[in-house]
Amino acid sequence: MNKEEVLQQKKDFFEIKIEDDKVLNLEKIFENKHPIYLEIGSGKGEFLSKKSVQMKEFNFLGIELKKRRIVNILKKLDIVDNKNVRLLRLYVDHKINQWIKKDSIDHIYIIHPDPWPKRRHHKNRLIQQAFIDSLTKILKADGIVQISTDHTEYSKWIINNFKQRNDFISVYENHFTQEREEDHITTFFETTKMKEGFNPIFMKFKKVNNTKKEGNCD
Ligand SMILES: C[S@@+](CC[C@H](N)C(=O)[O-])C[C@H]1O[C@@H](n2cnc3c(N)ncnc32)[C@H](O)[C@@H]1O
Repeated sequence: MNKEEVLQQKKDFFEIKIEDDKVLNLEKIFENKHPIYLEIGSGKGEFLSKKSVQMKEFNFLGIELKKRRIVNILKKLDIVDNKNVRLLRLYVDHKINQWIKKDSIDHIYIIHPDPWPKRRHHKNRLIQQAFIDSLTKILKADGIVQISTDHTEYSKWIINNFKQRNDFISVYENHFTQEREEDHITTFFETTKMKEGFNPIFMKFKKVNNTKKEGNCD
């Protein structure tokens, strides 16, 4: 097979589509009932391609908006080694629960979401209350949202948005850490920003039922 044919074969295997405006049937897509990890804004695919090998008994759904990034990701994936990965090309917003079933996701990763630093562009930021409303719907009980950014002001914005909620608690004592987890995957964007002198800020929020958070808000 030539390069184009290999890429087409991977596209056919990995890329899924939303059909007839219906909620995705992830059990059918992955052909099993393993826990599902969702990555929003997969970029060039370092996280998906490596994490899915670290965690073979888990399914990974990567969502990425840009077509050429989907091609970058496909190039990193192997039909045998990464058979637990699927890709969806989609613009994610607060309506993500339209496509993903309620209580179906175990863990969500958002790694270096676009910070939209200018005040007049803040409305474009992914992390907003309506978006978190949608995340809480698709997450299972005790589900996790893990977010990293190199942008200090955006990290404060993210933490403030989660602090306002009764349905999430911060896993990290001071809401964030700059320590990497043992099995941390370094993405393209993290590497680029580190070279520019920016250290990532890692945040982790756990879905709780509303009553659990009482007395735990600060
Ligand atoms: C700053 S890059 C980070 C990429 C990757 N996570 C990394 O750390 O290298 C943000 C990525 O999210 C994608 N993206 C931005 N907004 C998105 C949205 N609303 N829905 C889906 N993907 C989005 C961009 O195309 C880009 O690939």
